[in-house]
Amino acid sequence: MEMYSNFQLERVAMLAAGLATIAFISLRIWRLFIHNRFARRHGCQPVARSANKDPFLGLDTIRRGIRAAREHKTLEKSCERFRLYGNTYTSKMFLTPVIVSVEPENIKTALAVNFTDYGIAHRFEVFKPLLGKGIFDTDGDHWAKSRALIRPNFARDQVADLTMFENLISDLFALIPRDGKTVVDLQSLFFRYTTDSATEFLFGESVGSLQKSQSEFGFTVAFNYALNAITTKGMLGPLGVFYRDRKADESNRICREFAEQFVEKAIHAVQPDQEGEEKTNPQTKRQKYIFSHELASRTSDKRRILDELMNVLIAGRDTTASLLSNMFFMLAKHPAIWAKLRAEVASLEGRLPTYTELRNLKYVKFSLRLHPVVPVNDRLAMRDTVLPMGGGKDGLSPVFVPKGTLFSYNVYAMHRRTDLYGADAEVFRPERWEDGRLQPRWGYLPFNGGPRICLGQQYALTEAAYVTVRMAQEFQVLESRDAGPWEESLTLTLCSLNGTKVSVTPA
Ligand code: HEM
Repeated sequence: MEMYSNFQLERVAMLAAGLATIAFISLRIWRLFIHNRFARRHGCQPVARSANKDPFLGLDTIRRGIRAAREHKTLEKSCERFRLYGNTYTSKMFLTPVIVSVEPENIKTALAVNFTDYGIAHRFEVFKPLLGKGIFDTDGDHWAKSRALIRPNFARDQVADLTMFENLISDLFALIPRDGKTVVDLQSLFFRYTTDSATEFLFGESVGSLQKSQSEFGFTVAFNYALNAITTKGMLGPLGVFYRDRKADESNRICREFAEQFVEKAIHAVQPDQEGEEKTNPQTKRQKYIFSHELASRTSDKRRILDELMNVLIAGRDTTASLLSNMFFMLAKHPAIWAKLRAEVASLEGRLPTYTELRNLKYVKFSLRLHPVVPVNDRLAMRDTVLPMGGGKDGLSPVFVPKGTLFSYNVYAMHRRTDLYGADAEVFRPERWEDGRLQPRWGYLPFNGGPRICLGQQYALTEAAYVTVRMAQEFQVLESRDAGPWEESLTLTLCSLNGTKVSVTPA
């Protein structure tokens, strides 16, 4: 009797397993059918080339990626792959299918034309411990509210105020030896300069890192560690959920607690006093523009203010410093271009530049072509959708993008396409834009495009141009003290592996 019921149970279990298998297979077939119909309707062709030998988990790609990262050749190798597989190819990251592209039309479609088909959900967990939920790591309504909250802070008046940049210049110059012999690493100084300017801009108080040694300041050290942990966790992809780092947890805590004090101050500053008047109404009585106070005048949600401050800090600090470091690396290697730049700056006759004059300085903006500081980026397809190019043998047909596919675009490789920039695309020649014929539009994209275009673009370009003009006024000779070529240091942003080692003599 007992044997009989065990037998029956076994049969029921087998039947259930069979039904589940049939349901799973039917669902797969149904999805395949729907996908094929969708792809046919849009004239899609499959992408002809794949970078994977292991088509299931893409383990070979992951191994290759880790090796390239260790050799600091991630971007160089990525350019080789585009030469080998064409402008669009497929790949795999564990179970996630990936479409990799340097086609401006595809990038435009994902970032602007079909913006709502894509999101950044894959970033949320990686950034959350440091950033909470803010403009940089949310989608949909939350992101739209963040953007509306933050956008007014980048109005022209704020961005055009150059006083803060000038106030920090003497701290920067004080750390640069002037004997033409002593080697100084400008990169580490630029990182300290933007740490000071970003904290001044956001919190109303600079951390003063240019006036202290790096190890003296807990916040800077903790912030650097927290950013590196984000990079490591991000590289692990879906395995990032298993990543544990107690020092990263501690660093996140230090950074957030540090920023929290400014949230309290901001709330206090904009609260109405006993007569019912706001103490520092940003619109009417402002002495000095402070980002956190502006936020506090629009929301009293302390958590939200803190999260947005952390988001803008991460978006704004290393980016501008990396731009300056990469550009000065190249300028020091190209004395003729440095001389041309100095000749342009000489038209100021030694006075401080105005905002409008800074906007005309093309060297800063266009040095982002060879070294875009956000060199690779991606978007996750939130629904079945289509990219306009990359399908078929010639890569000119549309491509079907199933929901859950990662669209990865490589701005670094796109900025070096010889069909877009000419045979000398690898050469540092900021003048290539001079005759106005070069119009690569979506083929030149250091600040992203579409609804999520960088909000700090003008701020960053102004700051970088300000430092460049002041350096050009102060120093006549800028000599590279690095025998090797520029090499990548790729974390969240792209800077120079060996820093920016130079020696200078005053003008
Ligand atoms: C050379 C300097 C900079 C470059 C190249 C740069 C580049 C970028 C890029 C590529 C994105 C898009 C990220 C994505 O959606 O995946 C972005 C977003 C953003 N950037 Fe910048 N950035 C720079 C400086 C700054 C500065 C100085 C600030 C603020 C002070 C800033 C604030 C932001 C913000 C708030 C976003 C998020 C926009 C959104 O998602 O709606 N950026 N930036």
